Amino acid sequence: MLRVEGLEASYGRIQVLWGVSLRARRGELTALIGPNGAGKTTTLLAIMGAVRERSGSVEFMGRRVERLPTHRIVELGLCLVPEGRDVFPNMTVEENLLLGAYTKRARRKLHDSLDWVYQLFPLLKERRGQMAGTLSGGEQQMLAMARGIMARPKMLMLDEPSLGLAPKMVLKVFEVLEELRDEGLSMLLVEQNVYHALELASRGYVLERGRIVLEGSGDELLENGYIRGAYLGEV
Ligand SMILES: Nc1ncnc2c1ncn2[C@@H]1O[C@H](COP(=O)(O)OP(=O)(O)OP(=O)(O)O)[C@@H](O)[C@H]1O
Ligand SMILES: [Mg+2]
Repeated sequence: MLRVEGLEASYGRIQVLWGVSLRARRGELTALIGPNGAGKTTTLLAIMGAVRERSGSVEFMGRRVERLPTHRIVELGLCLVPEGRDVFPNMTVEENLLLGAYTKRARRKLHDSLDWVYQLFPLLKERRGQMAGTLSGGEQQMLAMARGIMARPKMLMLDEPSLGLAPKMVLKVFEVLEELRDEGLSMLLVEQNVYHALELASRGYVLERGRIVLEGSGDELLENGYIRGAYLGEV
């Protein structure tokens, strides 16, 4: 569904991606893992056309999109839930959700989508009239994910959705990801929670210093000696 070939990206004179190639298949969760500063966020931004200096090809659902502006890519159904919790603090939970449904396709499905996200996140339903800025960090992260779903993407990319959350909230985030996967939503997931991410993933890629250094099925990577030592804290 998503095919990235030879992606390179730079910030000014500093090149951070060096020929990144990866694929994410329809109906599967694909994981992208790697240490801080490896270029994971940059990879997602470059796919969305949000990094200026960039080369390589990006194909989404059979269409070359690397020259399209970000909003056109979103309209085609590729959507990113960015790192951090950028919800609108002075709007209610529900207003934030409605803002997620801004494409034509999403607006048509608005009521269905709202039912669906309230079912996935009952807590957001309880708090739908509350200002988003008064939610806890974990709840704001859920709201950011829910808003991504409101856009009705054909593929959802998520940048570290469990970052900085309490263990209970981390589990909740992964429960929702599992449910979305089981419902057939195609996802590309960047995570530092390597174990949980690979458990859910059909396929995983390891990015280090701007290069893919390892790839395999989720199970293969979970059993890989290097991954176990470097990422899962085993000796
Ligand atoms: N806007 C920017 N301007 C200049 N350099 C940047 C910018 N954004 C990222 N970088 C640099 O590019 C490199 C890759 O950053 P990126 O955020 O993609 O890594 P990451 O894998 O997402 O890391 P993390 O796990 O910390 O989120 C880093 O060295 C970072 O300092
Ligand atoms: Mg990042």
